[in-house]
Amino acid sequence: MHDTAACWTALEQTGMETLEDLFAGDADRVGRYSGTLSIPEGGDVLFDWSKTHLSPAIVDGFEALAKAAGFDAAREVLLTGGIANPTEGRAAEHTAQRGIGADESVAEADAFHMRMRGLVEAIREGVFGPIKHLIHIGIGGSALGPALAIDALARPTADFRAQIDVQVVSNIDGNALEAAFEVCDPATTMIAVASKTFTTTETMTNAASAIQWLEESGVSDPYGRVVALTASPDKAVEWGVDETRVLPFSESVGGRYSLWSSIGFPVALALGWDDFAAFLEGALTVDRHFADTDGAENLCLRAAFADLMYVQLRGCQTRAVFAYDERLGLFPDYLQQLEMESNGKSVLADGSPLSRQSAPITWGGVGTDAQHAVFQLLHQGTIEVPVDFLAVKQPGHDLDPEHHAILLTNCFAQGAALMAGKAAEPGDPLGGARAYPGNRPSATILCEVLTPATLGALIAFHEHRTFCSAVLLGINPFDQYGVELGKQIAKEIVSNGGSGFDASTEALLKAAGLKG
Ligand code: F6P
Repeated sequence: MHDTAACWTALEQTGMETLEDLFAGDADRVGRYSGTLSIPEGGDVLFDWSKTHLSPAIVDGFEALAKAAGFDAAREVLLTGGIANPTEGRAAEHTAQRGIGADESVAEADAFHMRMRGLVEAIREGVFGPIKHLIHIGIGGSALGPALAIDALARPTADFRAQIDVQVVSNIDGNALEAAFEVCDPATTMIAVASKTFTTTETMTNAASAIQWLEESGVSDPYGRVVALTASPDKAVEWGVDETRVLPFSESVGGRYSLWSSIGFPVALALGWDDFAAFLEGALTVDRHFADTDGAENLCLRAAFADLMYVQLRGCQTRAVFAYDERLGLFPDYLQQLEMESNGKSVLADGSPLSRQSAPITWGGVGTDAQHAVFQLLHQGTIEVPVDFLAVKQPGHDLDPEHHAILLTNCFAQGAALMAGKAAEPGDPLGGARAYPGNRPSATILCEVLTPATLGALIAFHEHRTFCSAVLLGINPFDQYGVELGKQIAKEIVSNGGSGFDASTEALLKAAGLKG
């Protein structure tokens, strides 16, 4: 058995062929590096990693690394409710929300879900009067998941039409909340305050302004319209929410992994409980694959092998994700927090320095729009950017099928072009400007259809992919101490009037009228 350092050295010494040579040398390459998961109520999801530089030798090297890094044991700890988050001394129990975890955690998650279901159904049945809008107030993990799920599934044209309109507000910039007020009728609006800690400045400030808006609009009991989604139920009650409308979740569910808990309330309210249950079930299908499949056959682990290959062995500093489906347009934003807040660390789980790169920058956008904006660099820039394409076979609209055919064709054409490149025309003096180096990698995830179950599966796949990278690097993906310092400085500025900071910061505060 090797130690991880020896495994990395071996990987660094493993040769890499071009994509063209990899395809030429292996007639079964597509089959070897693709896999399909069948998601009940979500269709098949195809994961095609064949256009990456994975090879049998690289996969062997990463499988050895996974062994040396104790991957199987780490996965067991995660999925059984052990201490997967050592710096905070707790478990990371998002899978318990879906049904895999310590028995008591799964039972608790079920009980919390039943409580949430009761409230969702009461609101949908009109117990709180005719409710047409929900303003969901949260930030980071308490907003990105709901925003993604609502935007993906609750479109007016979608099969999963929302019974209740949801506006997700995260930014402290009052323009965001005001925009929500514009489209909501206070007489038929409820407010969800989503905060794991129930202390986040942006969320609590926005929540107070929402209460004021209800009050000023003549709503007699504004707090009676509020639902709290939190792991700190006492704080929610203290703030003014009646205990019957506090939907708790466990402290051991991380913020960016919390969409499965009561943070998913707006999704369940908009779509109905059955669709929320299908969303959980879709994730559970991926959990089972992740739990039961070893080595590179495990699609989450295979994706992590490729991710690490690009960052650690080929020096890539970013990974781009393009959703070739308008409904998944917020997926890159969601992944940014999931991947960068989880794996953007410079120490190992034991606090010692990480001697290599941590997570790359996750960025991306929507196809085909992005083709006309940023793909120039992907094709001809000097840096290599591994790209993920996300696409859905069945369109989410009723327009001429040509729209969707063009969309998907473009998606696949981009992957083909990145890989194949194009040589300069012989004799063309400006040929270099028209040449494409090629050998640029991409992975494609193709869903049969986009349903709550498919979305659950896609998110769970990325959660586990992120976890796999963390285990192979030896870092703890479940803390986020890096976000604290900026918050602390903002509080100090408020409390001491902006004194004692560097000259630039003090000058900015003065210029903005925040310091006398
Ligand atoms: O500042 C980062 C963070 O702590 C995220 O991890 C979290 O998702 C977000 O803030 C919101 O936190 P809360 O749900 O406690 O309001």
